[in-house]
Amino acid sequence: MEKNIAVIRGDGIGPEIVEQALRVLDKVAEVFGHTFNYTDVDMGGCAIDKWGDPLPQEMLERCVNSDSVLLGAVGGNKWNDVPGDKRPEKGLLRLRAGMGVYSNNRPAKIWPQLADASPLKKSVVDKGIDFIIVRELIGGIYFGEHKTETVDGKPTAIDVLKYSEDEIERIGRIGFETARKRGKRLCSVEKSNVLDSSRLWKKVMHALAEEYPDVELSDMLVDNCAMQIVKDPSQFDVVVTENMFGDILSDEASMITGSIGMIPSSSLGAGTCGLYEPIHGSAPDIAGMDIANPIGTILSAAMMLRFSFDMPEEADAVENAVSAYLDAGYRTADIMSEGMTQVGCKKCGELIIANIGKE
Ligand code: IPM
Ligand code: MG
Repeated sequence: MEKNIAVIRGDGIGPEIVEQALRVLDKVAEVFGHTFNYTDVDMGGCAIDKWGDPLPQEMLERCVNSDSVLLGAVGGNKWNDVPGDKRPEKGLLRLRAGMGVYSNNRPAKIWPQLADASPLKKSVVDKGIDFIIVRELIGGIYFGEHKTETVDGKPTAIDVLKYSEDEIERIGRIGFETARKRGKRLCSVEKSNVLDSSRLWKKVMHALAEEYPDVELSDMLVDNCAMQIVKDPSQFDVVVTENMFGDILSDEASMITGSIGMIPSSSLGAGTCGLYEPIHGSAPDIAGMDIANPIGTILSAAMMLRFSFDMPEEADAVENAVSAYLDAGYRTADIMSEGMTQVGCKKCGELIIANIGKE
């Protein structure tokens, strides 16, 4: 098969981790007989520097016209003082909205090889951590009106959190469908004891549940969920939640698996063109030092193969190659532990590539 991939290297460690993911994709193409064409896209801080805009329209079009988009990370202190609507992150939000990718899927799964890296007690980790957060990605407070004005002579900031029934229903369906393909348990997370948007959220989820009698639906308040994720993560199968709650909970969920550097994500909308990115940030403090962990991006490329290109064997090959790399005792600095061999970003990519097509 031939696929056109838009590639956003981004800022900070973005370029170096994306480089390793592309090498992995090249190896997959070679082993399985595919052709992957890459088109570079400027987005984030580097696009601000080059074009004065975190996502010029032409760059968005390149993404929308591709078969899928692979993204490293964007942002950095260098752009902290630019106005809110010109920040690197705004490019990412415009990209997500422009591609219509409303459903963000973030797995929290512990690699058995990394169980010691989890900050949780062994007795908790041993019960198993394997759940997915389905996060609504293009609505809610991220996309409501943001403004700062003077009220009674004082600066006052306003951010609007708004959800329509349709927006909730479409992400709710993804939650139910995802649960149906897994352990058939869906936990809907909201703040219905305080927020109207959450009360509507809960109502829509329960109406949808009628259509999915095989899936067990439960409700959880977001503050309780934050607590339960560290108390007993084994209780979760699929969590579905709104944009900002999903942002926060997915960082927490990634940390209990050992390293945020290991977690990929997929974002999909109505079609098969998806956006694939690790969930960590651009880590400018370690950029260019060849010590970043590229696995989150490599596994994001695997998700692209699986969910957008319908290449499950190829995706398995990449995931197995990562597992074999960990089995062999190699670790980047973020997950380094005693007795393991520390490697840099490039070397990590190389070792994983060497495991593809071996079986
Ligand atoms: C994420 C990030 C982004 C978000 C930022 C960079 C805008 O934290 O993908 O989780 O908040 O969605
Ligand atoms: Mg986040």
